[in-house]
Amino acid sequence: MLMSAQTFFITTAIDYTNAPPHIGHAYEKVLADVIARWHRERGRPVFFLTGVDQHGQKVQQSAEKAGVPPAQFAREITEKFKALWEKLGVAYDGWAETTDPRHIAAVQAVLQQLHDQGDLYKARHSGHYSVRQEQFLTDKERNAQGEFGPEWGEVVFIEEENWYFRLAKYRPWLAGHLAEHPDFVFPSFRGNELANAVAKEAGDLCISRPKSRLGWGIELPFDRDYVTYVWFDALMNYATFAGFRAQDGTGLPDFKELWPCDAHVIGKDILVPAHGIYWPIMLKAAGFEVMPKLLVHGWWNLGGTKVSKSSGNVVDPDALADRYGAEALRYYLMRDIATGQDADFNEERLKARYNADLANDLGNLVNRTVSMARRYRSGTLAAGPVDKSADALAIEVLGSEAARRFDAALGAYQIHSALEAVWELIAAANGFVESSAPWKLAKDPDRVARLDEVLVTLVEAARLAAVLVHPVIPQASDELLAQLGCSGNFTPVWGVVAAGHTVGEPRPVFPRLEPEAAA
Ligand code: ME8
Ligand code: MG
Repeated sequence: MLMSAQTFFITTAIDYTNAPPHIGHAYEKVLADVIARWHRERGRPVFFLTGVDQHGQKVQQSAEKAGVPPAQFAREITEKFKALWEKLGVAYDGWAETTDPRHIAAVQAVLQQLHDQGDLYKARHSGHYSVRQEQFLTDKERNAQGEFGPEWGEVVFIEEENWYFRLAKYRPWLAGHLAEHPDFVFPSFRGNELANAVAKEAGDLCISRPKSRLGWGIELPFDRDYVTYVWFDALMNYATFAGFRAQDGTGLPDFKELWPCDAHVIGKDILVPAHGIYWPIMLKAAGFEVMPKLLVHGWWNLGGTKVSKSSGNVVDPDALADRYGAEALRYYLMRDIATGQDADFNEERLKARYNADLANDLGNLVNRTVSMARRYRSGTLAAGPVDKSADALAIEVLGSEAARRFDAALGAYQIHSALEAVWELIAAANGFVESSAPWKLAKDPDRVARLDEVLVTLVEAARLAAVLVHPVIPQASDELLAQLGCSGNFTPVWGVVAAGHTVGEPRPVFPRLEPEAAA
């Protein structure tokens, strides 16, 4: 686990503004948001950066299709992303838009530096070029039939002069860095994939596009006929919006405070070569000694195929949030995938998880606990017996264990197992309601102390569960904590609720989805 007195810096891939957001985008931002919230709630300062990738051929082409200038097109899609993050409660601290003049100036400063130190050169190149992937293809990219497969989209043969970045010069350094820093990439099997790719990677990187072919980009400061390749521009956002090369008074953070990035959240498709090879080498060439740490997540698929605009199987997170609530969607996206692995998106499972986990388990525990505290104790808890009964003690032990497991799992980015630990506590607490039967205890004057013990134990178990799930479902958690009379107390360990504690009013937070409403 990374723990520093310094600000924990999280960033995510910036999303292409060639099309509106889909469920894969929503997953990535919620994942980063949960990690950020968890650090904040444990008292560790966090800076969470995200944003949009507005330049490049994809955006230019989509804009042409829509019949609007690229700047306007990118603006409209950018607003969709921003509105979605607001709706989903993605609480970022820094927002990156690559058309921002502050970013453009910093990217040009880095390009000029690389140029001046001899890391860029101009050369003529002819070859096959993938319009969709915005890159030249080599024979490596041909399939078994010797062709460029459909994944490359339209492939054209072009000959042109361009600027190249001396990637090959830095390759031995990168191989050494990977060998010495096994924690550069999480999960480690992706680090192995990257090391294999670095061993195979040859050649330099074309970092320019002639303006005659692509106008929508950042101009090379030393050759006005060219704009820079979209990835060179986009990758720099992680540094520029963290204040790297910023002028005074721009409102950007203090770079020294943030760097390095502790959790650089990306999907598996953009590890090799962009974030695993180009990005660290760009940083090294620009003079960086300390590299970021990459957190590589898997894909949400639909029927076995990656959810994406080009696969035509887009799942709209905005509509899902309207239908089921933003927090039901957040919960599903965090619960039904293991970070690093793929998962299949399934709306039926989203509904089933909502009804079972949120409505039946968590919602019901809080509701019945608060109701019983009010019915049997007018809402104010009294002290239980001097010695705890074995079953109440078992819940306390389980609660302490759940809190410990939750933090360990979250620190290892395994949100789904962190949630599993909480649901074990919730299940045990609901079981304790049944086995202790407070409605019977309430009728027996000899069992007053036992009833008090049961109620204090249940309120504490429900409070701890609500606190632990806060990073995942913050609004619902706030509401549950208010009902439990524990607003604003995020103490993530057992033992806050005591005699004299007063609960609030019960209200259903997760109304069950009825079959017809859920259809
Ligand atoms: O790659 N499941 O943008 P993008 C999970 N602009 N994650 C997914 C996904 C899916 N089905 N589809 C996409 C880009 N993602 C570039 C990044 S960063 C300098 C530039 C993830 O809109 C994807 O892996 O295609 C990436 O991390 C992010 O969404 C943006 O994808
Ligand atoms: Mg830091």
